[in-house]
Amino acid sequence: MLRARVALNPAAVVAPVNRRTFGSFVEHMGRCVYTGIYEPGHPSADEDGFRTDVLALARELGVSMVRYPGGNFVSGYRWEDGVGPAEQRPRRRDLAWRSIETNQVGIDEFAKWAEKADVEIMYAVNLGTRGVQEALDVHEYINHPEGTELSERRRTNGAEKPYGIKLWCLGNELDGPWQTGHKTAEEYGLLAASTARALKSAEPDLELVACGSSSSTMPTFGAWESTVLEHAYDVVEYVSCHAYYEEHDGDLGSFLASAVDMDHFVNSIVATADAVGARLKSKKKINLSFDEWNVWYLSRFQSAPLPKEWEVAPRVIEDQYNVADAVVVGNLLISLLRHSDRVTAACQAQLVNVIAPIMTEPGGPAWRQTIFHPFARTAALAKGDVLETRIDSPTYETARYGSAPVIDAVATHDAATGDVTVFIVNRDQQNPVELTIDLSAFGADLSVADSWTLTDDDLRAANTRDEPERVTLRPTTDIPTGGLTEAGTEVRLTLPRVSWTALRLSR
Ligand code: AHR
Repeated sequence: MLRARVALNPAAVVAPVNRRTFGSFVEHMGRCVYTGIYEPGHPSADEDGFRTDVLALARELGVSMVRYPGGNFVSGYRWEDGVGPAEQRPRRRDLAWRSIETNQVGIDEFAKWAEKADVEIMYAVNLGTRGVQEALDVHEYINHPEGTELSERRRTNGAEKPYGIKLWCLGNELDGPWQTGHKTAEEYGLLAASTARALKSAEPDLELVACGSSSSTMPTFGAWESTVLEHAYDVVEYVSCHAYYEEHDGDLGSFLASAVDMDHFVNSIVATADAVGARLKSKKKINLSFDEWNVWYLSRFQSAPLPKEWEVAPRVIEDQYNVADAVVVGNLLISLLRHSDRVTAACQAQLVNVIAPIMTEPGGPAWRQTIFHPFARTAALAKGDVLETRIDSPTYETARYGSAPVIDAVATHDAATGDVTVFIVNRDQQNPVELTIDLSAFGADLSVADSWTLTDDDLRAANTRDEPERVTLRPTTDIPTGGLTEAGTEVRLTLPRVSWTALRLSR
C-alpha cells in the first residue's frame, strides 16, 4: 500500500477563498448560447427564452461569475448588433467559429440571464477589430447611469439601471495568429493601456484584465506578458492566463499531473509580473485572472476543421468527459485554490455544451458531465481561508512534467463555522493510497462530517443523455468509524487509484 501524509495548520493561511475562483465562461460559440442557455420554445424555457433546466444546473454548479461574450468570438463582435428590437438585429458571419450569429442574445438578454443565475458578469471588449472608442461606447451603454445617448438607449431597451459590471477583459488572446486582429505585444500593450486609461477616466474603480499569452506553449510566453505589462502596469489589475489540458497519445500519467504544469504556469506569470513591477519601482501587485481553463481535447479539434457551411449554432467542440478528465478538473481547481493569494479570478471554459460541465439537447434534456461534480463540490465546500498544505507523498515520473507527487491536496478552513475541507487527488494508476491527515494544530475536537469521492473501475466511463448519472460522487468508503485515529488528531483514509475526494471535518 502506498502511504502519504498531509499536515494542516489553521495559522498557515495562504489567502481567503475568492468566490471569483468559481467563474465560468459563456461565449457565442457553437451551442453555448443558442440551445445552451437560450432556447425559446424549449419545454423548460421561461418568459425570456432561457432554459430553466440549465439555469438550475448552473446554480447547482455554484458558478459565481461568468465571462461573456468571448473568447475568439469577441475579436470580431459588434456589441450594438445585439441590442434593440430582436427582429431588427442583423445576422453576421462569426469568423472565429465560422458560423452565423443571429444576435438574438446580446448584453441585455445576457444580463437578465446572469441575474437569474445569480452570477457576476465579467465583460470582454473587442480589441481585435475595434479600439478605444468602441470600448468606451459599450461601457457607456452598460454602466453609465443615464442622460447620455448610449445610457438612454439602454434605458429605452428596458434596462433602467446600469448593469454595474466591475470586471472587464481588454480583448482576448491577441498574441494568437488565429485571433481576428492579432497583434504584437508592443501593439497590444499600447492599445490595452490606452483603452484602460480611457475606461478608468469614465469609471475609476473598474477592474481591468490585460491579455496574457493564450497558452504557455506560445513561443512568446513570458515575453508577451512582460511587454504588455511594461505599458499597462499602472492601469490594469490583472493579467490573464489560459490553459487547456488533454491526454496525449494515451499518456495518462502526464495527463493526471496537469496541475503540476498549472502550478508552474502560475508561478512563472507571478514572477514575470513582479519583475515588471520591480523594474517600474511599483508597489502595486498584478493579480492573475485564469479566465480560460479546462480539459479540452484540442488535438481532436485541430484535426477536424470547422464546418464548411455557415450554420447557426453548429455543434463545435462538444467534448464528452470521462472519469480521468473529472479527476484532472478537480486537481486543476486544487491548483487554483492553492494560488488564491495571486489567482483572484478564474473561469472554467465553458459553461454549456462547448467543452462544458453541462450538456443539453435541443428540445431535450440537460445533464451533468463528469467534470461537473468536482467543480460543484469544491465551489460548495471551499469556504473561509485557503491553508498552506504540507504534503509528503510518493512520486512518479511523467513524460511531460518530470517527477510528480502521487497525492495532491489543498485545504480550506472556515473560522466562522470551524469546518475544514480537504480536497485531494490520487494520481496513481494502479494503487490506492493510505493518506494520513495531521490535524494536531487544530486541537482534538474535529471529526469527519462527510467525504465524497469520484472514481470508477472504468476510467473512461462518461455521462451521456441515456445514462446521465453513470459517473457521480459517492461516499468515500474507506474511513475508520468516527473518522479519527485513536490519538484524535489524525484522519486516515484510503484513496482509490485515480480519484478525487472532498473530505469535510467539523466541530
Ligand atoms: O474556449 C474556446 C476558445 O479557446 C476561446 O474562444 C479562445 O479564447 C480559446 O482559444
